[in-house]
Amino acid sequence: MGISILTVCYLIASVTFILGLKMLSNPATARKGNLIAAGGMTLAILGTIFLYEENGQRLHNYGWIFGGIFIGGIIGTMTARKVKMTAMPELVSLFNGMGGACAALISIVEFGRLVRADMGITAPQGELLIILLGLIIGSVSFAGSMIAWGKLNGRIKDVVFRGQHLVNLFFLLLLVAGAAYLINSMDFGVTFGGQPLGLHFAAEPWVKPFFYSIFVLALVYGILFVLPIGGADMPVVISLLNSFTGVAAACGGFLYDNRAMLTGGILVGAAGTLLTILMCKAMNRSLMNVLIGSFGGGAVATNGTGGVGKKQGVYKEISLSDAAMIMSYAHKIMIVPGYGLAVAQAQHVCHELEKLLTEKGVNVKYAIHPVAGRMPGHMNVLLAEADVDYDNLLEMEQANAEFPTTDVVIVLGANDVVNPAAKNDPGSPIYGMPILEVEAAKTCIVNKRSMKPGYAGIENDLFFQPKTSMLFGDAKKVLQDLIAEIKSL
Ligand code: TAP
Repeated sequence: MGISILTVCYLIASVTFILGLKMLSNPATARKGNLIAAGGMTLAILGTIFLYEENGQRLHNYGWIFGGIFIGGIIGTMTARKVKMTAMPELVSLFNGMGGACAALISIVEFGRLVRADMGITAPQGELLIILLGLIIGSVSFAGSMIAWGKLNGRIKDVVFRGQHLVNLFFLLLLVAGAAYLINSMDFGVTFGGQPLGLHFAAEPWVKPFFYSIFVLALVYGILFVLPIGGADMPVVISLLNSFTGVAAACGGFLYDNRAMLTGGILVGAAGTLLTILMCKAMNRSLMNVLIGSFGGGAVATNGTGGVGKKQGVYKEISLSDAAMIMSYAHKIMIVPGYGLAVAQAQHVCHELEKLLTEKGVNVKYAIHPVAGRMPGHMNVLLAEADVDYDNLLEMEQANAEFPTTDVVIVLGANDVVNPAAKNDPGSPIYGMPILEVEAAKTCIVNKRSMKPGYAGIENDLFFQPKTSMLFGDAKKVLQDLIAEIKSL
């Protein structure tokens, strides 16, 4: 009876995961979707704790289970509450790493169970394959995510050396060969009830150390795999590692015949893969190019340390009062938010400016580039936090169609995503990346703190065009001052 109720719990949980994921695709329903999926996950966890039975026995070590949930829950809640919007990718990476570690631990525990019996293994070969897959993918995801986390918060630097990709390939081949050898060493001659039984692993002293060597090798591979990848490409890698964790969790679902875990894992795996592909597409780069490195891969200066060998032109500045005047008398304004807006935490004051201008009869919209900021949907989440109406957010294609009829574009802490070199300069590392074509508008005001480049480390011709004026300063301060100026007009 208990099991059948548990099956229903898992079914409900699986449905909530799918519903939640669907709702996450729209900012208006995303929050609710998240809650629904979390509710389903809670049901699956509680169902497992109270209803799961093996050999007629239920779980009993509640102290350990709830102690772990309590401590983990407190740490998770506090971290998520404290995290800044710009540090979100790091947090995602950390949480993802924990998922990978869980999957690897499941494999270690299950392998321990298999080899405990002196009688030898009573599992079919497929089970060992799933255990090894969970171990390898989970460990790579854990180690890779930890390195990604360290890189994003500046604790770990990019490490690039000659022949690195060959070394990585060697480790990968070693892993695959080790896993294949272990699986192959199972004996299929012995059967029980029609099921093939394994070799007498417990009697083979090399088996356990061999298994743990695969574990260590997978951790080393995870570290080596992420070490050379540049900071700007980290979100793509995190998304890829996220899909790895999903697959590793699905392996756990197979092992335990747990449908909720299987569905959840497969959904995470599939969603992570799709997201990785979409992000690569938005940057017009292949996944291989991201992994082997191009503009993020250390070949080019990143993080605003200097542009790549192009001569600086002449740019003009605009005063606050002139900017306020131009904006007040415009019919249509497009706001282009970027990473700098997130750094300055200027989303609320940006919304205030939008409301003020709208009250004055100006048509104000936001143009959102798919990779503006440092993670997918960064700008959407940031603006939703400030209660910006979702209907006012235009996707890149819509925005590009509207720029020619826009009076003023105000770029707030965005750089690479408005760089015309992506369209005009085949030699540019971002050539081919679709951009917001802001130069098609009548006037363009760019707010940033200096003439330093953006994440790709390249100069931006937009700043030197006749239609463009620079409005220097921290985005939040500049917006506050703009609001004051417009009010005083
Ligand atoms: P960036 O090109 O990084 O430019 C941000 C600009 O904001 C900088 O040039 C910086 O100039 C300015 N800034 C920083 N702090 C500021 C502040 N407090 N006030 C005002 N301005 C400030 O950003 P973007 O245009 O949003 O482009 C995103 C980049 O990240 C792209 O290269 C993209 O490919 C990459 N990327 C994104 C993703 C995702 S999924 N979002 C994934 C991978 C890579 P100053 O220093 O002069 O102020």
